[in-house]
Amino acid sequence: MMKKHMSLLKALLIVSAIVPLYQNCGRLKSSGTNGTFGSVGARNIDFDYKVFDPSYDEITDANPIFDVGQKYIFRINLEKLNGALIFWDLVYLGASCDLKVFNEKDSAEMECYSNGQIGVSVTAVYPDGNEKYGEIIGYVNDMGTSGPGSNIAPITVTITTAGNSQNWNIENAPVGHNSVNVVTGSGIARNVVVYLKQPIRIVNMDTAEHKPGSATAGIPCKSAPFPLKTEQSFTCITNTALADFDKYIIDELDNMAGGRFNFQVVDSKAVWQKNNCTTCHAMKTGNDPNDILNKLNTSIINVPGMQTYSSMTIEDRRALAFYMYYTP
Ligand code: HEC
Repeated sequence: MMKKHMSLLKALLIVSAIVPLYQNCGRLKSSGTNGTFGSVGARNIDFDYKVFDPSYDEITDANPIFDVGQKYIFRINLEKLNGALIFWDLVYLGASCDLKVFNEKDSAEMECYSNGQIGVSVTAVYPDGNEKYGEIIGYVNDMGTSGPGSNIAPITVTITTAGNSQNWNIENAPVGHNSVNVVTGSGIARNVVVYLKQPIRIVNMDTAEHKPGSATAGIPCKSAPFPLKTEQSFTCITNTALADFDKYIIDELDNMAGGRFNFQVVDSKAVWQKNNCTTCHAMKTGNDPNDILNKLNTSIINVPGMQTYSSMTIEDRRALAFYMYYTP
């Protein structure tokens, strides 16, 4: 898959270097009049269709990852489309995005507000009825500024060829989280406790492509919409509480021998509500979840009103500390 993309890209580069002035070679795409197109993965080179990130660096990935709240520029070369009317459109509407088309019709700016698949298409219609079509399909990641889980430090899992390649490596918990996101065990028996709405960031550090997805559709998060290339990541935002260390995320490209990791998803809000903590005081704050857990343990020993919780399990205390910090 990877190789195919590479050689296609090389071929495109060579063709555009050798024949910079070509007009009608390359892919022609006829849209018909109903606006429905087949799934065209490749970009149309007829009009140099390109996408740039917010700092105007070109994104050359076949399927770019867009961040929520950022502006991306899509651009075509009008000189190659003399006499045509240009139409821009959002397609594959898995995410909610705005597309602003500039007056000259040579560029458009996209900003998205939610996670999901999105495509930006360009159709050039000539007076004689001929058409040229190109699209760029990507995926919107809501780890940025809004959306569920966006302010919660993620747990990172790397897909690596090291060790047992069938199992994905759970990294140590982020700073200030090791008391609540408890990571135990080693190798294939490594486990992690995560909390509802906490993101699990899965990074492909293998040379082959992998597609993290749920063994049970949608649980505990959506599947990656396309296979991850090397160093590409996918953020799974947990949406379902799961009992101890079930293996629910697999490699959809190879779900018999594919990768997996062990985790538990705890509903911290339910633990908070069960304990009626708000009867005496509002949410207590701290520097991070570890800090709040320490304060909670100390106050259970020292504060008369809190001593009733002396038999509370460590699991519940962790969940309460997580909840008090993030209120997910
Ligand atoms: C009976 C009243 C009462 C209840 C119920 C109660 N607390 Fe407290 N809590 C206190 C008092 C009093 C203090 C000490 C003074 C303060 O920090 O407000 C305290 C302190 C704390 C602290 C330490 C704050 C700090 O800055 O050191 C944490 C954390 C905390 N409570 C969490 C909880 C949680 C979680 C629950 C529910 C399981 C809970 N409390 C239920 C009365 C209560």
